[in-house]
Amino acid sequence: MTNFPVIAVDGPSASGKGTVAQLVATKLGFHYLDSGALYRIVAYAAKQNNIAWDNALAVTECAKTLNIEFVNEQVLLNNLDVSSEIRTEAIGKGASQVAVHAPLRATLVDLQHKFCKAPGLVADGRDMGTVIFPDAVLKIFLTASTETRAQRRYQQLLAKNQPANYENILQDLTERDARDKGRASAPLTMADEATLLETDNLGVSEAVDYILQKYQVLLNT
Ligand code: C5P
Repeated sequence: MTNFPVIAVDGPSASGKGTVAQLVATKLGFHYLDSGALYRIVAYAAKQNNIAWDNALAVTECAKTLNIEFVNEQVLLNNLDVSSEIRTEAIGKGASQVAVHAPLRATLVDLQHKFCKAPGLVADGRDMGTVIFPDAVLKIFLTASTETRAQRRYQQLLAKNQPANYENILQDLTERDARDKGRASAPLTMADEATLLETDNLGVSEAVDYILQKYQVLLNT
């Protein structure tokens, strides 16, 4: 299906997969797809238009009208930079609520496939290896315990001088994991052929090196 190599990096929220996937893409000179940003943009746009996140039909119709572009580090919605607006905890929560709608997920498939261009793609999300790029040459499932991920998110918010409460973050992550894993459409699950990478005791550069080595071995076989 895909003409260029795809490395799929899936896993739960705050597992560090965004940072790791982006670095792998940079090292290989590949394109990078942050699929979570798409669900975040939809949640943000729905909110702006007073559409409830649980209204599958309205959310999907709203998504169809959006012009979404990634330009360098910026996420553009209808030509406006919404990079920081979509990164809040509230929009993250909304993203996981709109992401349960199968019609919305179907609407976003083509857009995600368009990221697969020469020389290759690193795709980061929940269903990259299972649904969107099932023929990815390498599938990584990056995860860490809920406590480790909550601690990381807590430190990130503190570093950004944003309000942070560890217990609330832990509860939000637990709820989001349950929603992502329990939904009927493209649930968060590890593809059979994926490699599990637990990052509780693994630094970012070690995770990046591990993926690069795996990819190099594939190229040599
Ligand atoms: O990765 P990120 O935290 O930005 O994703 C936000 C939400 O979008 C996730 O909690 C998940 O519910 C949803 N998502 C998804 N499928 C993807 C990427 C993200 O359902 N491929």
